[in-house]
Amino acid sequence: MTQEKQRTALVIYHSNTGNTATLAKEAAATLEDMGWAVNQTPLEKAPRIFPGGNPDLLLMGTPIHFWQVPVPAMEMIRNLPNFPGAGAFVFLTYGTVFDGNAPYQLAVEVEKKGAKVLGGASVLSPHNFKMTPDQRLGDLYDDFGKGQPDAQVLADFRAAVRAAASKVESGVQDFDIKDLRSPKPVITFLDGLMPVSMQKKALPKVMWVEESCKDCGMCVENCTTGSISSVNGKITTNHDTCYRCYQCLWMCKFQARTVNLSAMAGVLRGLKKVVKNPGTRIMV
Ligand SMILES: Cc1cc2nc3c(=O)[nH]c(=O)nc-3n(C[C@H](O)[C@H](O)[C@H](O)COP(=O)(O)O)c2cc1C
Ligand code: SF4
Ligand code: SF4
Repeated sequence: MTQEKQRTALVIYHSNTGNTATLAKEAAATLEDMGWAVNQTPLEKAPRIFPGGNPDLLLMGTPIHFWQVPVPAMEMIRNLPNFPGAGAFVFLTYGTVFDGNAPYQLAVEVEKKGAKVLGGASVLSPHNFKMTPDQRLGDLYDDFGKGQPDAQVLADFRAAVRAAASKVESGVQDFDIKDLRSPKPVITFLDGLMPVSMQKKALPKVMWVEESCKDCGMCVENCTTGSISSVNGKITTNHDTCYRCYQCLWMCKFQARTVNLSAMAGVLRGLKKVVKNPGTRIMV
């Protein structure tokens, strides 16, 4: 009697406030239910060599920043090893504004690593601009993704992951990553004319509150662009290299990193009226 070899999957994700991590967990649980062996790792902790070697299915997830895969995440993905011959599934979360070409962009990058993308998902989720010490924009307002993704979307997402895994099992490679392109090519093209380095300047700078700072070093250690430094207890931020990801606001437990994003809800609502997001897109 021959025993079938257990299939393996590797889930790599980048997530600042948990939305993309939630989908990573859903994907991993789905594959485990199918009897697959699954490894999960945040992108920033991904090793150069994965124990167990090349997976049968690579699942790569990121949030969407400025209608794109976040620049720091893109750099980390480029530094990963190749995954020749693996199937792949890309998943992204976005805060109801717009997802641009990010799903396609991520799929292209994953295919450059030698994997074949078999499906993808771009999922509406709570917008994570920090509004209060423990609430995001999308925790406050329905129109910024409160309660998303709902049970139906999660069921559709799990079904798509299962479908991608079944393609690996049956050797089917019928997905064209062009299907992940933005359904609004003109506005996406126009946006692409302005580099993120310029777009981010429309967002407010993070300020340091000296009286609240305990010099714990968390913001310095976790800034993905290395823009924060600490000298003799004084924290400085290089606002030119700072990407405005606002991750340091969440990292600081003492409210010593602050930014006023209250005006942004109005600005984003105006933008949403013009652009209109394409909703959750799940394709296999
Ligand atoms: C710097 C920055 C830029 C963002 N840009 C977009 C965007 O272009 N479109 C959008 O709909 N949401 C945008 N968002 C919201 C996030 O995409 C959304 O909340 C995402 O689900 C966060 O995922 P995470 O919790 O895994 O980090 C942005 C958030 C940040 C911090
Ligand atoms: S300083 Fe803060 S907002 Fe700027 S890149 Fe670093 S973590 Fe992100
Ligand atoms: S995380 Fe907050 S308390 Fe810690 S060093 Fe940075 S600003 Fe100071």
